[in-house]
Amino acid sequence: MEVLIRENTEIGCLLGAKIIARVVREKPDAVLGLATGRTPLRLYQELIRLHRDEGLDFSRVTTFNLDEYVGLPATHDQSYRWFMRENFFRHINIDQKRTHVPDGTAKDLHAECRGYEQRIADAGGIDIQLLGLGRNGHIGFNEPTGSLRSRTWIKILSEQTLRDNSAVFGSFDSMPKHAITMGIGTILDARRCLLLAFGPAKVRAVEHMVEGPLSAICPGSALQLHPRATVILDENAAAGLRYADHYRWIDQHKLDWQKHR
Ligand code: F6R
Repeated sequence: MEVLIRENTEIGCLLGAKIIARVVREKPDAVLGLATGRTPLRLYQELIRLHRDEGLDFSRVTTFNLDEYVGLPATHDQSYRWFMRENFFRHINIDQKRTHVPDGTAKDLHAECRGYEQRIADAGGIDIQLLGLGRNGHIGFNEPTGSLRSRTWIKILSEQTLRDNSAVFGSFDSMPKHAITMGIGTILDARRCLLLAFGPAKVRAVEHMVEGPLSAICPGSALQLHPRATVILDENAAAGLRYADHYRWIDQHKLDWQKHR
């Protein structure tokens, strides 16, 4: 796992955008795995700027989002399909038909999960998967104790996740309690993973993910198994890491070809 500690969220997000932009430049028909939430917002803004000011071309890019709430149609302003359209897709030249978000309103949710896996496979697999980290260590909506080999499935959201995300729904009770999410096995199949975590609220989850034992109690720790996982943190999220100086040392002594790949 490559751990990159940056001064603040702004610098961390610019670096994340740079990494994704590079993937798109090197492979114009790249398949991007995307995340929602507060963490990647600034990264999306930077990708939009790179599109607008530097011609970063998304016309041949395909995307697959990690997750969607069960029961929320694309027209609901808290659905992840809505989030992606408002915060990213409508500002770039992506072909909407190439953007995929699980359908939380599908009549047969199991068939939707199987179909989502198939669509990822048909697209040739994910080149780079962007991830955030839940306070309880979740990635996607894979909550603690879920199988580390899971494929796209339906998950019951934990109470902690509901509390963290319920503000935008007005109340805890009006928030969907289930989601379709790529499984951990699906995420680990991506050729590269890029996880961002910022702020003091993430400190314990980061500690467990990076330095704790590989355990379903912290789904993010599954990234320890990934051959090419990059984690970008700000100083606050990195505050609990025992080996922070080691990660900084590694970061400072990279050979040119290893830098900001
Ligand atoms: C979002 C997702 C979640 C979030 C995580 C962090 O698609 O899959 O795992 O990345 O809950 O959320 P924020 O960024 O809002 O702290």
